[in-house]
Amino acid sequence: MKILVTGGTGYIGSHTVVELQQSGYEVIIIDNLSNSYESVVDNIEKITGTKPGFEKIDLTDAGKTIDFFKRHSDISGVIHFAALKAVGESVEKPLLYYRNNLNSLINVLEGMALSGVENIVFSSSCTVYGQPDVLPVTEKAPIKKAWSPYANTKQIAEEIIEFTTNVKNIKGILLRYFNPIGAHESALIGELPIGIPNNLVPFITQTAIGKRELLRVFGDDYDTPDGTAIRDYIHVVDLAKAHVIAIDRMLGGKSKDKVEMFNLGTGNGFSVLEVIKSFEKVSGEKLNYKIVDRRPGDIEKVWADTTFANEELGWKAEKGIDEMMLSAWNWEKALQEIG
Ligand code: UD1
Repeated sequence: MKILVTGGTGYIGSHTVVELQQSGYEVIIIDNLSNSYESVVDNIEKITGTKPGFEKIDLTDAGKTIDFFKRHSDISGVIHFAALKAVGESVEKPLLYYRNNLNSLINVLEGMALSGVENIVFSSSCTVYGQPDVLPVTEKAPIKKAWSPYANTKQIAEEIIEFTTNVKNIKGILLRYFNPIGAHESALIGELPIGIPNNLVPFITQTAIGKRELLRVFGDDYDTPDGTAIRDYIHVVDLAKAHVIAIDRMLGGKSKDKVEMFNLGTGNGFSVLEVIKSFEKVSGEKLNYKIVDRRPGDIEKVWADTTFANEELGWKAEKGIDEMMLSAWNWEKALQEIG
């Protein structure tokens, strides 16, 4: 069966393409290459032995998106990753984020409806919960007012999918990721931030390898045991596997609602200093870091209640923080060798 993966040359997308192919699915990727490279397609082939289909399309182009679906009426499901994802940039350029992230989703749903594709897995985020009142956070936690346009696009996208499935023959699974990190064990694919990374782990590995001078730890005055902020970091390969299970579930007719939502995390929170400690342990490197002021917009702590995903989806994250950090470090070193 053929699955369309939008954003399939990106970080989470590329790992998901590998897992889909290894589970026997045929994959076609759409990406506009705004934050990734076409060479990722070749690296996927090196891992799996099969080259996924690839079309460079900007999904905000309704005409081209609809035309794609007309040409590929044999698609069984869509996993929609393609989106802009830098929280800080979204604050500076809100309209860019709304236009890109929402128009692309609308065009994909329109294309699906026109060509009779019935299943969509959507790449959502724990950011829809804001700073939750109760931890760990369950799927029933209230959706709080968004802290950034990026977060707001995820909230609105979830609603667009819900309302669309009410009137079209489409089912959806919304996957709310906590903090995906790490890379494939082959070190052939991983996170490839263009420019200065915003996220913690690429910043750590780039600092350790000498691309950046020092890591700034944003705040040590949070109400947490060591004062630094806590997140639920999850290995990107564990995350990718959940997408295959979600697609299997929909294609196997096992969905219990037209739209289902699942938290994807490990259920364990780690502070920034704990992540650094794990990195130093597995890499043997001493990281140059200093504590600075809090980053505006950051929440204090969040980690997932994964009971629903464990029991209903039958999925559980397997890899621990050390394995995550080691794979991220191996990927950074592989990147250095390529140059
Ligand atoms: C945020 C969003 C997440 C989104 C992701 C995409 C929230 C709760 N989460 O994750 O939904 O998918 O961005 O980019 O809004 N840190 C440092 N120094 C650095 C970088 C980060 O100390 O140089 C700290 C941050 O303050 C934070 C932790 O590391 O406490 C993780 O930060 P980051 O990797 O940027 O992810 P989030 O902000 O949690």
